[in-house]
Amino acid sequence: MTKAKKWDLPSRQWLALTSILLIAGAASFAVPLALSVTAGSPFDERYQAAIQLLDAVPIIDGHNDLPWNIRKFMHNQINEFRFDEDLKTISPWANSPWSHTDLQRLKRGRLSAQFWAAYVPCEAQYKDAVQITLEQIDVIERLTDRYSPHLTKCTSVLDIKEAHKNRRICSLIGVEGGHSLGGSLGVLRTFYSLGVRYMTLTSTCHTPWADSSNADAPKYDVKHGGLTPYGRTIVREMNRLGMIVDLSKASVKTMKDVLAIAEAPLIFSHSSAFELCNSSRNVQDEILQLVTKNRGLVMVNFYNKFLSCSENATVHDAVAHINHIKNIAGIDCIGLGSGFDGINYTPKGIEDVSAYPYLFAELMGHGWTVEELTKLAGANLLRVMSEVERIRDIKRLNNEKPFEDIPNFRLPLQTSDELFNCSNNSL
Ligand SMILES: *[C@@H]1O[C@H](CO)[C@@H](O)[C@H](O)[C@H]1NC(C)=O
Ligand SMILES: *[C@@H]1O[C@H](CO)[C@@H](O)[C@H](O)[C@H]1NC(C)=O
Ligand SMILES: *[C@@H]1O[C@H](CO)[C@@H](O)[C@H](O)[C@H]1NC(C)=O
Repeated sequence: MTKAKKWDLPSRQWLALTSILLIAGAASFAVPLALSVTAGSPFDERYQAAIQLLDAVPIIDGHNDLPWNIRKFMHNQINEFRFDEDLKTISPWANSPWSHTDLQRLKRGRLSAQFWAAYVPCEAQYKDAVQITLEQIDVIERLTDRYSPHLTKCTSVLDIKEAHKNRRICSLIGVEGGHSLGGSLGVLRTFYSLGVRYMTLTSTCHTPWADSSNADAPKYDVKHGGLTPYGRTIVREMNRLGMIVDLSKASVKTMKDVLAIAEAPLIFSHSSAFELCNSSRNVQDEILQLVTKNRGLVMVNFYNKFLSCSENATVHDAVAHINHIKNIAGIDCIGLGSGFDGINYTPKGIEDVSAYPYLFAELMGHGWTVEELTKLAGANLLRVMSEVERIRDIKRLNNEKPFEDIPNFRLPLQTSDELFNCSNNSL
C-alpha cells in the first residue's frame, strides 16, 4: 500500500485496522496498538483506536459557522485574532455558547477538511447580500492565509488528499443560501471561481426561485411550491460548473424538485433525521431514499434542537441519528456536518470540534467497522465530490455553454443600473 493511497482502507475487521495503521504510522506510533478492539472493548481502547483511525483517513465536516462569528464578534478584523490559542479563555469567545472552534481543538479533533460557511442572514436579501457574501469569502481566505501552513485552501478532491497527506487542514468554502446570488448566474459563476464548492439553495428564507423549509410545518408559508424554472436553471448551472448542490434548509417540495433533475450527487451539509426529531430542518425517510438513488450525502448536524427536538442531547442522540440515516439511506450516503459555531446547544460528549474521536469511539461501540467509519469520516464526501468533478469535466468536454440569465429577471432592489440610468440610455 503506497502512502498516497492510505485512505483507501480495505479492512473489514479490527485486526486489519491494526496492521494497516502500523504501516500508515510507521515507527512513529507511541501508543500501544489496539490489537483487539471490538464493540465490547473498554471506551479508552476504542478512543485510542478512533484517534489512530482518524490520523490515517481524512475526516471532513460539512458545515461550520466560524466566519459569521468572526464578523459578529470582530467585524472581520482578524489581524489580532488568536485562532491558534485556546478561545475558551479569550473574550468574547469564552463567554459565547456559539463558539466551538479554534485551531488547537481542530487538531485534537483530527479534522482534515472543513467547509466554512460563507453565510449571510436573510435580512440582507434584496439588499447587500452579494457584497456581504464576498466579504465572508474574503475572511475565510484571510484566516486560511494567516494560519498557513496549518490551514490550506482546498477546492478539489486532489487538494483534500494532498493536504491530508501533508497533515494540513483544508479550508473549503460553502455559500449558505441562494439569496447570496442576488438572482444572478454571473454571481454564481464568480463564487465558483473564488473557490466556492457548494451552495445551500436556501437559508431560512425563500429565494425568488426556491422555497425554504418555512414552507413546511409549523409555518406552512408556501411561496412557489418548490423550485421555479429559473431555480432549475441554477441547479443545472451548478452541475455544469462542478459546484455541489446543498439541500439543507430547503422545503420538502424543493428537495424533491431538485432530486428529480440533479445530474450530479448532492448533499445536505448539516441536517439530521426527521424520523427521530420532526424539525423541518431534518430529512424525511422518503427523501433519504431519494438521496440513495442520487448517490448523495446527508451530513449529520449536532444541534441539540435537531437531534432531540430539545435543548438537551447527548452523543447517544447523535449516534442514533447517524445509525438511522445509515439504515435508511445506506452507508455510502452519510457524513458529518456539525454546524459548530452556528448552534448554541451542543450534545454532551460532542461539545466542540475536538470531539470527533469521541464520537467515533462511541460508533465503534455500536459495531461500526473500519470501512464504515472511513466512509462516514470523509470517503463518502470525497466520492460525491469526485462524481461532481467528473460530471463537470464531461460537460466541459462536450463544450456545454453557460446558462444565460433570464433577461429582465430583476430582484426588487435598487441596482446601480437604475441609479445611473444605464438601462434607459439616458446618460
Ligand atoms: C412535530 O410533532 C409535533 C407533535 O406531534 C407537532 O406539534 C409539530 O407540528 C411537528 N412538527 C413538524 C415540523 O412536523
Ligand atoms: C437542559 O438544558 C438546559 C439548558 O441548557 C438546562 O438548563 C437544563 O438543566 C437541562 N435539563 C436537563 C434535564 O438536563
Ligand atoms: C434617471 O432617470 C430618471 C427618470 O427616468 C430621472 O428622474 C433621474 O434624474 C435620472 N437619474 C440620473 C442620475 O440621471
